[in-house]
Amino acid sequence: MRNRMIAGNWKMNKTYTEGVQLAQDLAEALSDGTGNVDVVVCPPTVDLKGVSTVIDQQSAPFALGAQNVYWEESGAYTGETAPNMLEAVGATYCIIGHSERRDYFHETDEDVNKKAKTLMAHNIVPISCCGEPLEIREAGTHVAYVVDQIKKDTEGLEISDPAKYVVAYEPIWAIGTGKTATADDAQEVCGAIRATLAEIFGQETADGIRILYGGSAKPENVAGFLEKEDVDGALVGGASLKADSFSAMVKAAM
Ligand code: 13P
Repeated sequence: MRNRMIAGNWKMNKTYTEGVQLAQDLAEALSDGTGNVDVVVCPPTVDLKGVSTVIDQQSAPFALGAQNVYWEESGAYTGETAPNMLEAVGATYCIIGHSERRDYFHETDEDVNKKAKTLMAHNIVPISCCGEPLEIREAGTHVAYVVDQIKKDTEGLEISDPAKYVVAYEPIWAIGTGKTATADDAQEVCGAIRATLAEIFGQETADGIRILYGGSAKPENVAGFLEKEDVDGALVGGASLKADSFSAMVKAAM
């Protein structure tokens, strides 16, 4: 019912030349196709056009995603990127609400919600991130914390095609730390996310929305997460920076 998804978040890594090279290597590594797995790569903004050109030239079996967007259409917003600019370079996905943006750049749930609405108006699929910090996990209130984020991040959204809205659950304490949540930890929260989406949008829509796990996901552990009922894929940081590890994760999902 739901195609699995493996998405790579390159974060602030890879210059233009390096990014083009990685995209070429990945196109080569995945040249036999990705079956039913939807693959997305999310390079830094200045690399988007270069990666887009590689996708076209090599008929690469992956889609292009951005890591951020602003919710206004144009104007005096120095340093920001408008949704139609992403569209113009071929981005069809965009990560929003990543914990690094919430922490370092003070993004709120209200911002994430506005970004989702803007992206959907442009037919760009949001990959909307949520996840709890360590102190919340230790206090045992992580499910309530994430459910609250989901409610705020989706407020007023209209989802006509559930394939066009993606949630990524990324427990902050597991990001870039080598500390992975267990597959059961991921299922506990992803199951609660789906139940919340069902309350808001109805069961049928919730059943079509992909929920990804992120946080030290790698070739060796991805299959364990994917076995879980409500985990439909992975949002991958570090392991997406090399074609061999990222393609291995795609193959593990096939
Ligand atoms: P790592 O896979 O490097 O832990 O990063 C996860 C992440 O934040 C993806 O968005």
